[in-house]
Amino acid sequence: MRQPTNIDPAKGKLGVLLVGMGAVATTTIAGVLLARRGLAPPIGSLTQLGTIRLGKRTEGRTPPIRDLVPLADLADIEFGGWDIFPDDAHEAARRAAVLEDRHLDAVRDELAAIAPMKGVFYQQYVPRLRGVHVKEPSSKREAVELVREDIRRFKRERGVDRVVVVWCGSTETFTTTTGAHASLEAFERGLLEDDPSISPTQIYAWACLLEGVPFANGAPNLGVDFPAADALAKETRTPIAGKDFKTGQTLMKTIIAPGLKARMIGLRGWYSTNILGNRDGEVLDEPASFKTKEQSKLGVLDAILEPEEHPELYGDFVHKVRIDYYPPRGDAKEGWDNIDIAGWLGYPMQIKVNFLCRDSILAAPIVLDLALFLDLAKRSGFRGIQEWLGFYFKSPMAAPGLAADHDLFVQLIKLKNTLRWMVGEDLITHLGHEYYD
Ligand SMILES: NC(=O)c1ccc[n+]([C@@H]2O[C@H](COP(=O)([O-])OP(=O)(O)OC[C@H]3O[C@@H](n4cnc5c(N)ncnc54)[C@H](O)[C@@H]3O)[C@@H](O)[C@H]2O)c1
Repeated sequence: MRQPTNIDPAKGKLGVLLVGMGAVATTTIAGVLLARRGLAPPIGSLTQLGTIRLGKRTEGRTPPIRDLVPLADLADIEFGGWDIFPDDAHEAARRAAVLEDRHLDAVRDELAAIAPMKGVFYQQYVPRLRGVHVKEPSSKREAVELVREDIRRFKRERGVDRVVVVWCGSTETFTTTTGAHASLEAFERGLLEDDPSISPTQIYAWACLLEGVPFANGAPNLGVDFPAADALAKETRTPIAGKDFKTGQTLMKTIIAPGLKARMIGLRGWYSTNILGNRDGEVLDEPASFKTKEQSKLGVLDAILEPEEHPELYGDFVHKVRIDYYPPRGDAKEGWDNIDIAGWLGYPMQIKVNFLCRDSILAAPIVLDLALFLDLAKRSGFRGIQEWLGFYFKSPMAAPGLAADHDLFVQLIKLKNTLRWMVGEDLITHLGHEYYD
């Protein structure tokens, strides 16, 4: 990644296309429509509420992030998207039942005007859903072209200058990379041959990469985290980020675990369970989809605690993650964590966390920030994996062979230093020796 010599201004409209217009997507859209009319606060969004210290502590320079870097204004965002059900954003938001009527009614007309484009869907990747609003391409290759046409049409019809895409679609069944993911040529061949290891997430992502449209993957699906996508992103100068929004329980995990590690407190076990009743919960009730999520959720502790460096503290802890589909709870997920820790001389202690959260309320500001930061990245000439956006993900992407940082606070330092670096400000090391000379 090269330091930008200039950043293109955020001129004109930014199209934000969301794949999957379910709970997360409609909560994001409604929230942005409300926030830009001053009807509700965009809490949780770093781009809207975050500040950034510049220079020395004594200089007193702490502007809002959006005054440091040229981000698109909320007023300039045009939303659109795809789904395999035809409901417009208002109907979909009502069905998701995340937001109350007082919020949905205030932006009803704008939401109702956002109808999803037909989705690319193959049943085997989400066995729990029966798509009815789907494209009928003759091959996966043609599916890519249909998505590209959708993007171009959206730009034309809505007078949009730039587009970013965020995957807010369902979790797909667990897949791993195959030969089809190894190179550009192999992937193109796989598309022509309808290779089963190429899922819808990859089809949308590939279309975006060919169009030079930044793509973020909010689900744990294999989307852009394979060599062919990395190569194409570099070739078409497209920023990519992923994967799996870091909300609820994993967010808490990456807040608490760095604290335990910082004080060299041992871990004997971490048991996490959730009840969730929205469509995401229903999809995750399918073992093959849950496996994709489980892999993403399990990775964080090893990465933060580094058992190989500290076998006496973290060598053999037990880590379990459960999600139970429990319809009465809807989007209001409840998570329980039982953390067995060990202190001085090995004495055991326990921490209990009971998080009564709202899944989509936690995810929406992430979608907004990713859209705005990816657009900024594109205008700054960044391409390929945007590791500095790992702050937002359960399974942050990093360069091949590089271990990604999972510690939320390290991720935040990386994000903010990247913003400082983009505009030529000094990086902040927190050393501070100069105050004592
Ligand atoms: N809410 C959170 O806290 C959170 C955190 C991390 C990840 N996620 C992930 O974000 C995604 C969205 O979550 P949600 O709660 O909005 O789920 P949801 O079920 O409400 O919405 C997903 C939407 O995607 C649509 N869809 C599925 N396959 C599609 C395809 N191929 N093309 C177009 N549309 C498709 C579905 O019809 C549905 O409307 C899920 O994968 C979830 O695992 C959510």
